[in-house]
Amino acid sequence: IMRDHIVAGNWKMNNDLAETQELLGKLKLQMVKEPEATVMVAPSFTNLYPTFQSLKDTPVIVAAQNMHESEKGAFTGEVSASMLKSIGVTTVIIGHSERRALFNETNDILAKKVQAAIENDMTVIFCFGEELEDRKSEKHFNLVEKQLKESLFQLPQSVWKNIILAYEPVWAIGTGETASPEQAQEMHKHVRELLNKNVGKEVAEATSILYGGSVKPNNAKEIFAKEDVDGGLIGGASLNAVDFLEIVNSF
Ligand code: G3H
Repeated sequence: IMRDHIVAGNWKMNNDLAETQELLGKLKLQMVKEPEATVMVAPSFTNLYPTFQSLKDTPVIVAAQNMHESEKGAFTGEVSASMLKSIGVTTVIIGHSERRALFNETNDILAKKVQAAIENDMTVIFCFGEELEDRKSEKHFNLVEKQLKESLFQLPQSVWKNIILAYEPVWAIGTGETASPEQAQEMHKHVRELLNKNVGKEVAEATSILYGGSVKPNNAKEIFAKEDVDGGLIGGASLNAVDFLEIVNSF
């Protein structure tokens, strides 16, 4: 099966402009050969435009970490799809667990954000995943099904080419504790079966499902080797150019 291998760096709320430029310089310097995987980076809103400009002549895709579901209006502090597009950014992360937990983004709101992104011809990296209690009580498969059902499964088949999925078990984010490659594979397989059942076989086979949660250079290879793992969404390790590119080259 030919699915895109994708490694995306989520820089979260790290790096001011000068630090961003330093990281970009190192990334470009270290990227001696064109990576085989599709590479993406997601800077903060203030660093999106300089990052986009800096990476224009490279294959690296620049993504936003979030966006608002409305086109424009009285939403102080928010950024719309068309604003992102106006600076050249056509990819957006939606549903990161930090947005869900710290900014109260529900499955319902996330469905609207995905809808808005798709209407604007954007590519969505849609994040989902269970918390530790869900896994302890063996609700993780159902919880993930609910997240996908309530935010994504209403979308028509034709738009799925613009959806990338990212499974991020919350207990593995920033904790240094990754899901085992087997745990990742088991959930990714479950997700692919859900896609098959709810959207269709073609979409199930073609959609890239990334794993996120403490992916580092020393564990990326064994995670990416799993059949249904098509890449990674990298937090902490993406802030170091050498580590990030080592992960990028871990297929
Ligand atoms: O979006 C990235 C994830 O939240 C993973 O973060 O690699 O620091 O655990 P992490």
